[in-house]
Amino acid sequence: MDSIGPVGLQQGEGAPCYPQESLPCPSDSSELVQECLRQFKVTGAQLRQIQASLLSSMEQALGGQVSPASAVRMLPTYVGSTPHGTEQGDFLVLELGATGASLRILWVTLTGTEGHRMEPRSQEFVIPQEVMLGPGQQSTLISWTKGFRCSGVEGQDVVQLLRDAIQRQGAYSIDVVAVVNDTVGTMMGCEPGVGPCEVGLVVDTGTNACYMEEARHVAVLDEDRGRVCVSVEWGSFGDDGALGPVLTTFDCALDRESLNPGAQRFEKMIGGLYLGELVRLVLAHLAQCGVLFGGCTSPALLSRGSILLEHVAEMEDPSAGAARVHTILQDLGLSPGASDVELVQHVCAAVCMRAAQLCAAALAAVLSHLQHSREQQTLQITVATGGRVFERQPRFLSILQETVMFLAPECDVSFIPSLDGGGRGVAMVTAVAARLAAHRRLLEETLAPFRLNREQLAAVQAQMREAMTKGLRGEASSLRMLPTYVRATPDGSERGDFLALDLGGTNFRVLLVRVATGGVQITNQVYSIPECVAQGSGQQLFDHIVDCIVDFQQKQGLSGQSLPLGFTFSFPCRQLGLDQGILLNWTKGFNASDCEGQDVVCLLREAIGRRKAVELNVVAIVNDTVGTMMSCGYEDPHCEVGLIVGTGTNACYMEELRNVAGVAGDSGHMCINMEWGAFGDDGSLGVLSTCFDARVDQASINPGKQRFEKMISGMYLGEIVRHILLHLTSLGVLFRGQQTQCLQTRDIFKTKFLSEIESDSLALRQVRAILEDLGLPLTSDDALMVLEVCQAVSQRAAQLCGAGVAAVVEKIRENRGLEELTVSVGVDGTLYKLHPHFSSLVAATVRELAPRCVVTFLQSEDGSGKGAALVTAVACRLAQTACV
Ligand code: G6P
Ligand code: BGC
Repeated sequence: MDSIGPVGLQQGEGAPCYPQESLPCPSDSSELVQECLRQFKVTGAQLRQIQASLLSSMEQALGGQVSPASAVRMLPTYVGSTPHGTEQGDFLVLELGATGASLRILWVTLTGTEGHRMEPRSQEFVIPQEVMLGPGQQSTLISWTKGFRCSGVEGQDVVQLLRDAIQRQGAYSIDVVAVVNDTVGTMMGCEPGVGPCEVGLVVDTGTNACYMEEARHVAVLDEDRGRVCVSVEWGSFGDDGALGPVLTTFDCALDRESLNPGAQRFEKMIGGLYLGELVRLVLAHLAQCGVLFGGCTSPALLSRGSILLEHVAEMEDPSAGAARVHTILQDLGLSPGASDVELVQHVCAAVCMRAAQLCAAALAAVLSHLQHSREQQTLQITVATGGRVFERQPRFLSILQETVMFLAPECDVSFIPSLDGGGRGVAMVTAVAARLAAHRRLLEETLAPFRLNREQLAAVQAQMREAMTKGLRGEASSLRMLPTYVRATPDGSERGDFLALDLGGTNFRVLLVRVATGGVQITNQVYSIPECVAQGSGQQLFDHIVDCIVDFQQKQGLSGQSLPLGFTFSFPCRQLGLDQGILLNWTKGFNASDCEGQDVVCLLREAIGRRKAVELNVVAIVNDTVGTMMSCGYEDPHCEVGLIVGTGTNACYMEELRNVAGVAGDSGHMCINMEWGAFGDDGSLGVLSTCFDARVDQASINPGKQRFEKMISGMYLGEIVRHILLHLTSLGVLFRGQQTQCLQTRDIFKTKFLSEIESDSLALRQVRAILEDLGLPLTSDDALMVLEVCQAVSQRAAQLCGAGVAAVVEKIRENRGLEELTVSVGVDGTLYKLHPHFSSLVAATVRELAPRCVVTFLQSEDGSGKGAALVTAVACRLAQTACV
């Protein structure tokens, strides 16, 4: 690569060429020619240097560091999405600056069907010189380039200027939707190749590129999600002097004579507006030194702008033949000889090759930036190319490709020429904007019922409060408010070894709990309950439980001992005493037959009886909320509420005994298992329930039951999200409207995905990975929308849960006639613990709805099995005290 040089010419050893104000005029003419051409040679090392320096300039500009004249500008374009293929409608496109001194108007019709393209209609208008340089009543333009210099426009919003002009004309109704850089139009109009088309490269009159950047990398945007198309504006690279080593005397002369000296130095080495001029300067110099045209010049050769890009392209093309070069030179008033023609071809080739190589170095900087920032081993990407230099000079693309491969070997790039000179892409930008706006409206409409305001939450709190009171009195209520016969939290004097069972959450556990002076020590083992057992016969289920206990006893060397046993049983039970619990109904995924209406402790004892070898002393049956409260209460005496947000959801709290109908006694407290999962089963949550909740409920094993739980807990949130995603797909908002088998599959979208997707530490890239693993073919817009769906669903869940907790703590405060209550809530459950925002949303809602309660949430570390053992320990202590 280091030997890349003008075709057919022997290269010198690449001595660095520094700009010189006046060329030495070596006496030997062939040496003079070599010297001129050598100036245009750029070595591999120099290209790498340019690539690295442009990359660092890009990264500085992205990071918001503005160094004085530091080159690239990295302007966000507010184009955040590439086309779907489903865009449709009629769009007008004005192209100013793309084809030099002309304005092209394009009428583009998009059909919304992939593969069905309608040719755009277009008309071109020449812009007279006096208009290009005249007053500019014609986005905020930062500076003109490429020969435009209208006054009163730089620093103005060009969309507004255009709207004003349309207004001045009257009679037209045209909505100006988007102002688009030509690179963006080029990128947007392109069909993807090996990878998505996320880079647009234009080499026309001027040069520039744009690409899709992660919004969080763009410091000037206050946005950390999604992508945005950034216009690199690399034409001004080197305005701070970074291009010094590769600038030739001709570049310096060209710059001096240009409309904007000192600016757009990189563009002036690459853009089509300048290639002809560079060639002209070289030829004039060689003629003046007597090496060309017999030492004669012509007025045309000495006039700015007489050699155009088209001329250079033709003369450089080896297939064009000497005759054509001859004619062009003659048209310039020159009389070339045969050797002159060959030399002129070399000059054209040298100028063009350098342009393509420099352009490649800049593109390689963009590609390596993308590859690193996306952490991809190989970046597969499509670059849309546009502009007359590509169209007129086929060799430009091949040199560019070869050089990019050399400079960025880890990028697998396909180059695709843009259609309709980027005009279709501009229409696309507008169409994509229109599609995104329509999709956003549909998304907002779909999620609106999930966004609960303060009044709605306060109403839930009030309803819950009323249902609590009714339930406690034994009146009809969706809250059963079950007495648990737990009257006291541990006082620290409990001692002994206890067995505990923990059934009803994600795991079934058997535990040995040692309560000693130094604290509580736990040994436990997790056993699985296969779905066929959870939904088989009751006898099978309880035999399985006893088998697990026997296995545990054997492993722990406890066989033959009859330790007191506490049983955490996380389902609604009407208790008649501490060791009696009638299962009212199964919830979550359980549905074993012949259990509902039975005393669970009896079912366990019967199973023990069938397994003659074991002896167990079941002392207490405990709901998981109660186990959690007791477990946290061992550490914090203020803990008087237990909350579970896991597979299911529920809460318990210490109520005044006098308020509890059906339990003897008027003084002291009793823990009440609210069974709040069933809240709303009487229809009272109807207004809040969405069609998605109804679908989840209908498809569950207990339709019409546990309606509050089905809006909050881990067993159901993933399903709600899945139903919303299905709906949005049917509207064409997600996944390009393509329904996949995967999304039709029940329970495919696990609630743990909500936790992962909403985790701040995971970039959207990982969100995409999760969804792609599910076989969902998504774009980055899809990923963002899925994230918003997850957020809406989990936020509603947390707020409803908070409204429930607010009702509970307010009740405790009022029971005690306190101005302010300080209370702790013991919490357990996978959703609460794993979700990144759930706990803080619950706490915020409680603060809002129960401002007179100071509530601390304590996460239970040891599970509710420990609490069940403590309930057993307290019962044993009280029994012993009674005996004394
Ligand atoms: C606890 C328990 C379980 C309980 C669970 C809820 O700590 O020991 O018995 O049901 O938490 O969480 P999960 O997410 O497993 O349903
Ligand atoms: C059960 C409750 C339990 C909760 C949390 C609900 O489905 O009915 O008894 O406390 O899940 O596990």
